[in-house]
Amino acid sequence: MKTNGFIIIIAVAILAYLFFEPITATGSYSKTTNIIPKPVSVENHDGFFVFKPSTRVIAEKDAKTEALKLIDALAPAMGYKLKLASKARPKARAIKLAIDSQISQLGDEGYILDVSAKQILIRARQPAGLFYGIQTLLQLLPASIFSKSEVNDIKWKLPCLKITDYPRFQWRGLLIDPARHFIPVNDVKKFLDGMAMHKFNRLQVHLTDNIGWRIEIKKYPNLTKLASNRDRSGGNGGFYSQEEIRELVRYAQQRHITIVPEIEMPYHAGAAINAYPYIGINPARVEGMPLDKRWAVLGGLAAPRPKTVGFMQDVLAEVIELFPSRFIHIGGDEANLKLWENDPEMQAQMKQLGCKDAHELHSWFIKQMDAFLTENNRRLLGWDEILQGGLAPGATVMSWRGIQGGITAARAGHDVVMAPTSHTYFDYRQAPAERGLSSNVINLEKVYSYEPLPPELSNEQARHVLGGQAQLWGELIPDQNRREYMAYPRACALIETLWSQKQLKNYENFITRLRHHLKRLQTMGINYRQLD
Ligand code: ACM
Repeated sequence: MKTNGFIIIIAVAILAYLFFEPITATGSYSKTTNIIPKPVSVENHDGFFVFKPSTRVIAEKDAKTEALKLIDALAPAMGYKLKLASKARPKARAIKLAIDSQISQLGDEGYILDVSAKQILIRARQPAGLFYGIQTLLQLLPASIFSKSEVNDIKWKLPCLKITDYPRFQWRGLLIDPARHFIPVNDVKKFLDGMAMHKFNRLQVHLTDNIGWRIEIKKYPNLTKLASNRDRSGGNGGFYSQEEIRELVRYAQQRHITIVPEIEMPYHAGAAINAYPYIGINPARVEGMPLDKRWAVLGGLAAPRPKTVGFMQDVLAEVIELFPSRFIHIGGDEANLKLWENDPEMQAQMKQLGCKDAHELHSWFIKQMDAFLTENNRRLLGWDEILQGGLAPGATVMSWRGIQGGITAARAGHDVVMAPTSHTYFDYRQAPAERGLSSNVINLEKVYSYEPLPPELSNEQARHVLGGQAQLWGELIPDQNRREYMAYPRACALIETLWSQKQLKNYENFITRLRHHLKRLQTMGINYRQLD
């Protein structure tokens, strides 16, 4: 009896040795995870999961699409492409991805990542959760996993652990501005890659402004023929064809990012007015001018007459065909309303509509867009000036001039995205000696300290705060290198505010993780500002 027992123990030990990798290897691996944004919970266990070319990825149905993304993400650096299968071979190591409707408490973006020596299991209720689980998995590997060519001297393995994770906010956004300086399609794609690895899920694209119009609208060809061919540096500008827009939307969707188009009105509409003077104030005056003299006339402010409403709704009709985003941003900021107050036609228009001032005319115009978008099953999003003169019934407010606009809108039961100049204007400088659009300095620690929920709001009102967004306005951002420098690592700090649990935030701990994380950015070829 005793001898048999001893033999069984030895046999089990030998089998265990054959089936599992020895767990003594350490190398450059440590049990410290350096994940950004910090997950909700990490439980460390003993041992490692070791990748082999024979490792199978197991996924069914909806999980398959995400599994292929994992395989594609691992292949360049590992130098081999793992095989996808729908069933595991008994006893073989496998990475399993599964849609699991039972884990609904983690929401549509949450996931559980379970790593044991034999199996990696990622479970989520929706494909987005699996995608975020994959992003976390990649960050558990050495930074060189982000290399685009094979890395030979590394044994790829993951520490055994269990991570349970889900986002704090549903709107985790960044804004880019091809209107001021055009951004080529491939640069937008690379920017989306960087966002995806950080679990951002909204990219607002400022497609139109006084200086340029960057989206093809079939009904109004002069928008691209005339209004797209300049930029802030005196360059040729550019625009996205509808085909290119579809390609970008698809590329973003594959990364679970929604592109939110911004079509500016009534102000910041100078490029459109120059191409179609009949939407501007005093059209006769502009129409009589040569094209190159029209720029910047009448302050880029459209005139809210019915023909202008029709024009902008036509534009939005094509925009909603191209962009599946539920939210369509119509700008609404910074209008110099004196231009309407001083114009006889607009004075008559106010009188006819019963507007007591120009704010109410502004509000009337925005309400026409709100009604149109609502009819088409979309929601209007606008900068906080749309509160003046009365907020449109379906509007969501993006609060940029501080947080008061957001507080007012949330109290009135409207949804809100927080994007205040104080913490989220990434076109502002990172140190006093740098260039920036304002003299204000927004450094990494300032961004990290940001809290999107104002204490003034009750729990019920705070539910209207969908999340936050950082702005990379393009006036002083002529190229991708500069854009990345302004975005990183501040975006790493912002995402920790938007994804991670508030009580887990700690700046020193963030900086420790960031030092590792910057190696990932470097491997991906993303420019960033060095830490001070
Ligand atoms: C803005 O910065 N004008 C929204």
